[in-house]
Amino acid sequence: MNTQPLFTPRLILRAPTVDDVASVLAIYGDPETHRYNPAGPLADIAQAKAALDRWLAHWATHGFGQWAISTRDAPEWVIGFGGITLYPYNEVERINLGYRFAVSAWGKGYATELATAALHYGFKALDQPQVYGVVRPGHQASIKVLEKIGMQRIDELDDVPGQAPSLVYVATRPA
Ligand SMILES: CC(C)(COP(=O)(O)OP(=O)(O)OC[C@H]1O[C@@H](n2cnc3c(N)ncnc32)[C@H](O)[C@@H]1OP(=O)(O)O)[C@@H](O)C(=O)NCCC(=O)NCCS
Repeated sequence: MNTQPLFTPRLILRAPTVDDVASVLAIYGDPETHRYNPAGPLADIAQAKAALDRWLAHWATHGFGQWAISTRDAPEWVIGFGGITLYPYNEVERINLGYRFAVSAWGKGYATELATAALHYGFKALDQPQVYGVVRPGHQASIKVLEKIGMQRIDELDDVPGQAPSLVYVATRPA
């Protein structure tokens, strides 16, 4: 398992550890970061620990997963989580890009920077021909991120009963 941190121009992407549980709760427990997520924010530290345990198990099983994200200026301060994970939908396990940043980190291009690095990682380090992304249809900021990194909308996913389908995006590795 290669858990060496990755560096982008402004960010550090590293494998999470059990010590990140407070950051998970701070970011995933904030209703603002779940405005478009029907699952809703995490309620307490136990739910944060359960989510983190799933991410750590994904890393242990697959050797990659959700990164803890900080800036090079303040490496000890986690501003978000995101990266490439396996995510099953329509009965196929996909290589999926995801991200969630603290509200204080929004609007600075960090999601685009993370997503660009994650796409490259999926294509090169994981040798994957395609990387997918799923987004709620009204989530303009996230749609913008996926489109800025060159992803194309290819499908819909009926993953929220009684609501409009999510949008499925894909990026294909350049020849
Ligand atoms: C969605 C999210 C990741 C965006 O992070 P970010 O670092 O602010 O994103 P970026 O700055 O890289 O890019 C966002 C783009 O969307 C644009 N944008 C933001 N809000 C918008 C809105 N309401 N309508 C249209 N465009 C919007 C920004 O202007 C920017 O585009 P630009 O670079 O052309 O100006 C962040 O808001 C977040 O973490 N939200 C909570 C978690 C979440 O929803 N995750 C995605 C689940 S699919």
